[in-house]
Amino acid sequence: MTGSDVRGFAKLPLDEKINILKDFADLNDEDIKLIKKYQELPDFLELENNIGPFKIANNFFVNKKDYFVPMEIEEPSVVAAASRAAKLFREGGGFEGKYLDSKMIGQLQLIEIENLEEAKKNLFNSREKILKLANEADSMLVKLGGGAKDLEVREIKTKRGENIVIHLHVDTLDAMGANAINTMLERISPLVKDLSKGEICLRIISNFALKRIVRVEGRIPVNKLERGEFSGEEAAQRFMQAYALADADIYRAVTHNKGVMNGIDAVAIATGNDFRAIESGVHSYACKSGEYKPITSWELRDDFLVGRIEIPMAIATFGGATGSRKGRLALKILRVGNAKELGVVAASVGLANNFAALSVLSTEGIQKGHMKLHKEFLELTKNNAGVKRE
Ligand code: MEV
Repeated sequence: MTGSDVRGFAKLPLDEKINILKDFADLNDEDIKLIKKYQELPDFLELENNIGPFKIANNFFVNKKDYFVPMEIEEPSVVAAASRAAKLFREGGGFEGKYLDSKMIGQLQLIEIENLEEAKKNLFNSREKILKLANEADSMLVKLGGGAKDLEVREIKTKRGENIVIHLHVDTLDAMGANAINTMLERISPLVKDLSKGEICLRIISNFALKRIVRVEGRIPVNKLERGEFSGEEAAQRFMQAYALADADIYRAVTHNKGVMNGIDAVAIATGNDFRAIESGVHSYACKSGEYKPITSWELRDDFLVGRIEIPMAIATFGGATGSRKGRLALKILRVGNAKELGVVAASVGLANNFAALSVLSTEGIQKGHMKLHKEFLELTKNNAGVKRE
């Protein structure tokens, strides 16, 4: 079996690419049939590793494992950029990453509370009872080692009065967990109402997923950064200037983070994940200090350009559309064992796309490579039956 660092992968005939994936991910006849069905759709374009249901980035080497990464995105240059960047990170040993925790937070809002102190005390003293009741709502999750693990009682002053907001910390394992958490919150409502002598209002998962943070690091030898007229050292210095601007200025930071999310969203969509949940978590994390900041950081260390990303990553390998045929196919091609592994790969793709963007923006400019692919894309869509173009 070959690794994902296939030379000239993007230039190979479609069938050859599919054969490589078949061998790599042990695809069966059903998988191949599904891929071919997507290729028959009128909008299918054979451009930048589009195999049908999604495009494929290669060269990813994460925690010493090889990956072909399915990406669903309309901009073909994002996939080309991810593969190119992953190849350079590979030269520095690949990406290394881990999750710091794997819990999601559910919020339950209590309003119209007569005695706040009394209510908080009662809720806090019944912590174990509330957690037990929450866990009764999803015995399967508990059996697998997940479930409600902790509870916080917060007091929040709103413009309509004092609220108590309960935070349920739930280990949702390989699921994103919205369903499990919302069910748990509804299950504990009568008890919580009784204990607080307040009214239950809103109950929902929070997308500010501070308990599900993934951290990934990767490095590229400076001598591999040479671009156009710029030597590796010059390109590295210019890269750091571009990063410094994102760190200093929100207008740039937002675009910088958009480039990171190009990669992460594309992996989330291909695998049937709720990319809006991930987006909202990431952008809110970007301003956790009160100031909107880049979600990646870069430094020059020894003879390497070192990149790091730290973000909430509420991604799943179980539940929702991850169980669709397309979602399952994407997960099979990725060969990921669980949601944590997928999150680390997705964050690596985000870091790769961020590197690719900064390295071209700070040297030759984006239009050269981007426009070449974009022109090809326009040409192909013009010739495509069913797509009308001026
Ligand atoms: C375009 O989709 C993404 C970029 O604007 C990201 C960036 O500016 O860093 C190129």
